[in-house]
Amino acid sequence: MSEFLNEIGPLTATALAELGAAGDLAALEQVKGRWLGAQGRFTGLMKQLGRLPKEEKPAAGKAMNEAKAALEAALAGRRGELELLASLPREPTDFTLPGRRRVMGRLHPLTQAAEDIVRSFRRIGFVVADGPEVEDDYHCFDALATPADHPARDTQDTFYLDTAPPRLLRTHTSSVQIRVMEKQPPPVRIIVPGRVYRRDNADATHNPTFHQIEGLYVDRGVTVGDLKGTVEFVFKAVLGGDVRIRFRPHYFSYTEPSYEIDFSSAATRALGKEWLEIAGCGMVHPQVFENVGYDPEEWTGWAFGFGIERIAMIRHGIRDIRLFYENDMRFLRQF
Ligand code: DAH
Repeated sequence: MSEFLNEIGPLTATALAELGAAGDLAALEQVKGRWLGAQGRFTGLMKQLGRLPKEEKPAAGKAMNEAKAALEAALAGRRGELELLASLPREPTDFTLPGRRRVMGRLHPLTQAAEDIVRSFRRIGFVVADGPEVEDDYHCFDALATPADHPARDTQDTFYLDTAPPRLLRTHTSSVQIRVMEKQPPPVRIIVPGRVYRRDNADATHNPTFHQIEGLYVDRGVTVGDLKGTVEFVFKAVLGGDVRIRFRPHYFSYTEPSYEIDFSSAATRALGKEWLEIAGCGMVHPQVFENVGYDPEEWTGWAFGFGIERIAMIRHGIRDIRLFYENDMRFLRQF
């Protein structure tokens, strides 16, 4: 066997040992250069191949190819190992440490109440509508036949914006009744959850912003009986079966007749009251239909509005409305 052929084995073994011993990626690159680079020892051996006698070439070429493949495989293998090592944290990992617990979020009690009420109404064919919180006089009051001298229109109760034309923060979701009827012909069956604003000082039962749900049902031949049946169905669904509901005559400019709805249950008694007033409602006033271009001779309807906070307070026995806005986790975690 030629001297050349004898050299390949030991050289390859040395190269493989050096590759395996490289302690980091930089060292590995140096070993690679020393053997496989342009001036490398193995590359030098390749160059000699051409000068061998013809009969030695096939065996020598085959041996060189095998050696080269072995070197390249060893290089790639060691590189993989060193890259993995480099990506590991420097500090040892303690796999026995307890995991980090992530707290589950949950819905705010007001969101839960609103969603439950909306869900009940959807089951009887109502769809959700909404409208702007920044409103104008017309949609918040005039179109609802609230006269210009009504106390609700006083700056005592309403936040006015310094704009021209004047704008205000809606004091109730009833403005959305008008916006929806302006846009679509009857029949109408909508439910409107939303935020409203009033110039009240915050105390246990008032806050300058709170939430309401408005309902509006317009069709031919709608009666007060429909209103009572619907309201009872929903309040029983949301507040439990043991409830009693009564309608007390009242006045709203946009309904005739108008009622306040009182509500009684174990929950109201727990709050120290037999009856709690929870909503206003009535049969849509013919003037309101005129204002949106509905024919009051043909169409009838009812509407109601109530505060979501009030419902959530009854539901959970909460005595101070301000708790809803403080975002104290000790309070929120309970729902
Ligand atoms: N808008 C009234 C309020 O803010 C509630 C209300 C009463 C809404 C009668 C209605 C209604 O739709 O018909 O207190």
